Amino acid sequence: MNAGTVEHYLRPGTLQLPALPPLSLYVHLPWCLKKCPYCDFNSHESKGAAPEARYLDALRADLEAALPLVWGRPVISVFIGGGTPSLFSPEGIDRLLAGIRARLPLVPGCEITLEANPGTFERERFRAFRAAGVTRLSIGVQSFQDDCLRAIGRVHDAAQARAAVEEAAAAFDSFNIDLMYALPGQTLARLQADLEAALAFAPPHLSIYHLTLEPNTFFATHPPPLPDEDLASEMLDLIVSSCAGAGLQRYEVSAFARDGHRCRHNLNYWQFGDYLGIGAGAHGKLSFPHRVLRQQRWREPARYMERALAGEALSQDEEVARAELPFEFMLNALRLREGVPRALFGERTGMPASAIDMAVLKAQQRGLLEADLQMLRPTGLGFDFLSELQGMFLPARAPAR
Ligand SMILES: C[S@@+](CC[C@H](N)C(=O)[O-])C[C@H]1O[C@@H](n2cnc3c(N)ncnc32)[C@H](O)[C@@H]1O
Ligand code: SF4
Repeated sequence: MNAGTVEHYLRPGTLQLPALPPLSLYVHLPWCLKKCPYCDFNSHESKGAAPEARYLDALRADLEAALPLVWGRPVISVFIGGGTPSLFSPEGIDRLLAGIRARLPLVPGCEITLEANPGTFERERFRAFRAAGVTRLSIGVQSFQDDCLRAIGRVHDAAQARAAVEEAAAAFDSFNIDLMYALPGQTLARLQADLEAALAFAPPHLSIYHLTLEPNTFFATHPPPLPDEDLASEMLDLIVSSCAGAGLQRYEVSAFARDGHRCRHNLNYWQFGDYLGIGAGAHGKLSFPHRVLRQQRWREPARYMERALAGEALSQDEEVARAELPFEFMLNALRLREGVPRALFGERTGMPASAIDMAVLKAQQRGLLEADLQMLRPTGLGFDFLSELQGMFLPARAPAR
């Protein structure tokens, strides 16, 4: 049995998954007009037109080679992320989706999200993405104020941000606005103005992220002046109350939605579902009856294209160690405000419920987790101190000798 073949992954192991989880597809398109100073995603300045046709060929080859690992499994959602996927032409996205549909059984009404940036010629283009089969647009606005946008090095201005959201609202029944807060020099009043601007569009979904200084970014070496922890925490309170007032429920740490508009794709991540990830640097998680596998594709776009076209898109694949699974599961599941059914742990990890009993009990005793026979759910305190709660499910370290 060779590593990488489906027989290899189907061999006996210590996990017993009763059924395979729902499967999603992630497609990474890695180019942007300009690299933002805070961004640690696998995104690259396009320096002229991106090699769209060759990249689409590479994605097709990547998907073809991965098919035996997901044979016959329905796909519940597709997410085309980046980078800046809206830089690709609608014809290119049409070709991509046609290629996916020809190879994978998408469920009826499958959610297909595309990430779009303001200032990527949205008029007509957004409608054309819709016509290609995209059902949901996620717009990376970040802020509706010119000085905040400048401070974080965005290429678009506030007027372009507004125009993009208007176009998205006209073309799509479901769309998301991405904002960031705790921006350089941001005050509570400025954040409030951003929230009012976003909520005025009555968005079905809003994602609001605390700006973080990631290693290996320009901001890591040239940190801008940022709001302190107390102000950032007041900002979060303002975000939660403003969204609630506008009928958007906080269902995950950074995600707010109206009824019926939660992001199915991200929910599948948080419920420890499976995802095949194709494209440069894409991550994937795939389950088999006796193991859970993590995969990664080559990161650098030119290298990825060359290797994927040769049938070797994978740069890494490794089994998740049994001891790591409780933490990996909880890292995702506890991000959900309503938690998850207790039985989901066994369904997704193939481990007995008893594997987390001790940690659940300790978390309950510290007031961080609510647990009964049906559900596991972070308390308000647990949600506020999430990394502490998640950390309680880390594998026990062997004592140092
Ligand atoms: C995959 S990224 C890129 C989406 C799109 N290219 C854009 O920039 O608008 C998705 C979202 O992650 C958030 N994000 C990216 N870098 C971040 C950082 N360092 N801290 C917090 N949020 C970040 C931004 O809100 C961004 O819209
Ligand atoms: S546009 Fe988005 S993906 Fe591209 S560099 Fe900026 S934050 Fe990163």
